[in-house]
Formats: sequence, C-alpha cells, structure tokens
Amino acid sequence: MCGIVGYVGHRDCSDVLVNALSHLEYRGYDSAGIAVFENGDISVAKTKGKLINLTEKMKKEGKPKGIAGIGHTRWATHGEPSDINSHPHSGAKVTLVHNGIIENYKELKDFLIKNGRTFVSDTDTEVVAQLVDHYYDCINDPIKAIIRTTQDLRGSFALGIIFKDFPDTVFAIRRESPLVIGVGEGESFIASDVPAIIEYTKNYYLLEHDEIAVLSKDGIKVYDSHYQPIVKTLKTADWDVNAVGKCGYPHYMIKEINEQPTAIKNTVTPRIKDGMPDLSECNIDPDFLRKVKNIFIVACGTAMHSGMVGKYVMEDIARTPVTVDIASEFRYRNPIISSGDLIIIVSQSGETADSLAAMRLAKSKGAKTLAIVNAMGSTIAREADMLIYTHAGPEISVASTKAYMVQLSVMYLFAFQLAYAKGTIDEQKYKYYTSKLLETPDLVKDVIESTTEMAQKISTQLVSADSLLYIGRGLDYALSMEGSLKLKEISYIHSESYAAGELKHGTISLITPEMPVIAVATQSALYEKTVSNIKEVKARGAKVIMICKESDNVGEDVADFVLKIPNFEEILLPMLVCVPLQLIAYYTSVQRGNDVDQPRNLAKSVTVE
Ligand code: M6R
Repeated sequence: MCGIVGYVGHRDCSDVLVNALSHLEYRGYDSAGIAVFENGDISVAKTKGKLINLTEKMKKEGKPKGIAGIGHTRWATHGEPSDINSHPHSGAKVTLVHNGIIENYKELKDFLIKNGRTFVSDTDTEVVAQLVDHYYDCINDPIKAIIRTTQDLRGSFALGIIFKDFPDTVFAIRRESPLVIGVGEGESFIASDVPAIIEYTKNYYLLEHDEIAVLSKDGIKVYDSHYQPIVKTLKTADWDVNAVGKCGYPHYMIKEINEQPTAIKNTVTPRIKDGMPDLSECNIDPDFLRKVKNIFIVACGTAMHSGMVGKYVMEDIARTPVTVDIASEFRYRNPIISSGDLIIIVSQSGETADSLAAMRLAKSKGAKTLAIVNAMGSTIAREADMLIYTHAGPEISVASTKAYMVQLSVMYLFAFQLAYAKGTIDEQKYKYYTSKLLETPDLVKDVIESTTEMAQKISTQLVSADSLLYIGRGLDYALSMEGSLKLKEISYIHSESYAAGELKHGTISLITPEMPVIAVATQSALYEKTVSNIKEVKARGAKVIMICKESDNVGEDVADFVLKIPNFEEILLPMLVCVPLQLIAYYTSVQRGNDVDQPRNLAKSVTVE
C-alpha cells in the first residue's frame, strides 16, 4: 500500500507532488508528506491524516519551494498514523519515501543503533533512510549506496530517494512494489501508478525489480542492480485526464458505476470475432481448455466474488469443476494442484500480495496460470502464463464497482469459450450467449437509470440499521456476497451474506424486526425456494427488501420493498443485479455522511499480507 511520487522539472514541485498524490490516495490516507529541494537544503512538510491536512498545513505555514522532490501518502503498517511516523523519513543526508514492507527492519535497526544511529519514528522506512545514509557515508556514491542498501533489505519496496549532496535529483528503486517513471517535456516523474502523472504525461517506463532510475535536469537514466546503464521501452497510457477526474460526479464511486457500460464494451467487444469470443491474443489456446481438468479461481475481496459468479457459470455450462479460493488461504493450505489444472488469478490492481503469492505458488506446482487484471503492466499481469486485461480504466474509489463488472464480463467470455472447447455447448448456443453478452452494456445503462430511485429509497431504510443480512441461492448467493461486502465497506454497517437455504441452520436466530434482509431472487429454478426462505425471515419480523425480475409478482406478504430488474438471459443477470447492490451501498454511505471513496482503515491496493 502507500503511494509515492517524485518530480524533477520546471514547475512548482510542491504543487505537482500534492496533485499527483491526490490521485494516489486510494493507496492509503493515514498521512501525507513531501520533501523538496529548497535553497540548497531539503524542506519537509508532513502531517497525519489525509492529503487535505497537508495542504491546509502548507497554506498556514508555507509550502516548500523548489523544482524537485518526493511525496508520499501512507497506509500505516509499522507505527500508528502520526506526524512522526509520516513519510518522508530522513538520515543525515538522505530523505526518502517508501511503499512496501521491510521484513527484517528490526535486525537492521539494531545494526544501525550499534553504529551510533538514533531513530525518531516506529517505522520500517526510517531504517531504510538511515541505512542508505550509513552506506552513503561509507561509499560516497548515491547509486552504490542504494544498491548496497537493497542487498540488505528483505520484503517489498518502492523508494523515492533524495540526497542533500545531489540537489534537484531524484533516485528511485523498486522490488515487488510497483513504480513507474513518467517521461515529460523537460520534466520527469516517479509514481506508484500512472494516474498520478497522467495530467502531465502519458509516457512512462515500467521499472523492473532492483532497477534504479535517476531523474535530473539531464533527463532520466536507468541502471540495473550491477550499476550498468539500461535502455527502457517507452509505454503510453491509452486513457486521458478525465479517467482520473470526478467529471462533475460527487464521488468517484458513482462516476465509476456510471462508467460500467463503457467498461464492458471496451472489455468485451474487441474480443468478439465472427460472433464468438476469441481469446487467442491472451495466449489462451482452445486445445488447452479442452484438456483442463480442474479450475481454481483465486483472488481477494470483490475480485474473489467475481470468481464465485464464474464458478457457477463454468460449472453449469462447461461442466468443469471450479474451486474458488481466498488467496490468503490458498497460499498457505498446501493446495492439491497439478500440471493439468488451471489457476485463474483475478485482480484489479494486479499487485495484491496474496494473489501474487498464490499465482507464484501455482506456477511452482506446474499448473498453468491465467490472470484477469485491470492494471496494465502490473506484476500479476507480467508473471501469468495467460492474461486477459479488463479495460475498466483507472478505478479510484476504494470500493470496487466497474472493475468487478468487467471481471464478470471476462468470466463469461472465458466460460463460453471453455464450454465450447469442451463441447458442452454447440456453436449456436455459443453465438447466442455471446450475442446476449454484447447486449449487457445498454442494459446496465438502463438498470442504473431505472433502479437509482428505488436504491435511494431502500438506503433510507438501511441508514440506521446496525446489522443486516443478504441472502440468495446459486448465482444470487454469489451476488449477495458482493452486495454485502460493498455495503459494509463503505457504510460501516455490519452485514453478512448467507446462502438462503442455510439460514435455518443457525443464523435465523439473529432475525429481529431491527435486522433488514436483502434477498436476491432472480433465478427461475430457485425462485420459489428463495421465496420460502424469505417468508421464513418475514415471519420472524424482518423487513425484507427483495431484488427480482420485472415479471415476478411479489406480494406484501413476501417483501416490504421490491426492486425489479429487466427480464434477461438468466445466466447473465449478475451483470445487471450488481448495479442496484452497488447503488444501495453507495446511497447508504452517502446518507451516513461517510467518506465514500476513502472508507476508514482501507486502501485500494493491498500489497501487504
Ligand atoms: O486489486 P485487487 O482486485 O486484487 O483487490 C482485491 C481486493 O482488495 C478488493 O477487491 C477489495 O475487496 C475492494 N476494496 C472491495 O471493494
């Protein structure tokens, strides 16, 4: 987690750093800080809390003035959120910002204390700053000092480093944690992610593990870990500034909900050839699919929930066993996987530590890996055997919406192709499903419009609840999981998702008139069963909010509020039903006055275990 930035150029550096950090706050917002070369020295401004606290502080106390420096937004790991623990951290001549975790910081700290160093913070990062300083004292060469330091470090890091002796020069290095180097006209940048710099340049280099970048008025130089110069390939981001702005919406989350139709189009349409999915550019060979024995979908949070939908669909139409695993469990449970198996890793950021570790584990056991990733060039994307990019564009709100939607769309593309390869659907059905998938962007747009008012009304019912349940069966259960996570993540109301048929085995004892139940019942084959379960909770006083199809007649004896979605191909309904679930969570959070896009304690990119 954490976001780091750096700048060398001709603009007001403090302004650039703060602006760039504002696009990285999704990575953490426990503190913010910058360090800028000013009149031959390094000026630091930092404070606990969100970036706004830093800007307020600089308004009162003045901002560092210069043309080069580094910045940081924090998700606390070592040491509580406080002014002292805020980055940047410094040694005598070195100041740096860090994204990642130094696992052996304790032993390094002891070593440095023995060498006469003192510390002011509880962070692992200050240890790195002191260590670079220590080696710089001994070697007197910044790059050699950085290389020597990283030889001692265990863990993950992306570092932006400045040395008092090298004014207006920013050094950067990374291992595991992501870092891009932005290439502008007479200016250069470092950033944890491209959105931070897109306002200034679309051109960037991806820094690889242990590569070192040096940004100065002479341009950008990159070295390998042996201090040999290397030539990098320039990449160009294919989205514009609007992709990282709110564009008139009050929150990123609602903007991103509204971007879903476009995101689906961008993800699905280019992959349809002759009316059928073609995933050959993703390195997916139909012959391989035909032989696949077991599929494991491994991911975290919302990405894992998209895998739950994938499981139901793949097992249903491709008759292939699919296991969905939470990445942090999968990696430590000695899973039984072999070379005939396929491991699908789903990740918006492509950097989630547990998902990445799970993928590496699967590879080490000889299984083939397929990554479904949104962030271009991310580590998971680069290391997978097969790769399907989702094209949601940058997702800024911590609560994932459009990334989930396109993960679903890819689950369908893949499931259709798997089923066709295995011969469990014929060409006619294959083309039929595909044509229906192509209808979803317009339908999602309609559903956003048609369900907003009801979602707002429902949220007024939820706003003062302490706890609620989401229930459903089959695909509707998979959706309930996501609906529940979305609500608790941003509204801070406790909620659980339950398989509707399982309630009576214990959980139904929780039901009181104070506990609303959101029931999803969109699958015809399970409709009556779910209605029976709804009646069971209704009979015990629960207020029931039901999501069902337009054609369903729901009496007052079943539900207090009914939210209807259009009748459509049932297997694809999750792409429509997730919309009101997102909207209910959004409006409940808004009504509770929460920070929708930056919910407490969270960060979007979870690069720690
Ligand atoms: O970047 P990833 O998709 O790997 O992230 C996985 C989860 O951390 C993420 O989906 C999280 O659950 C979302 N904040 C939920 O909205």
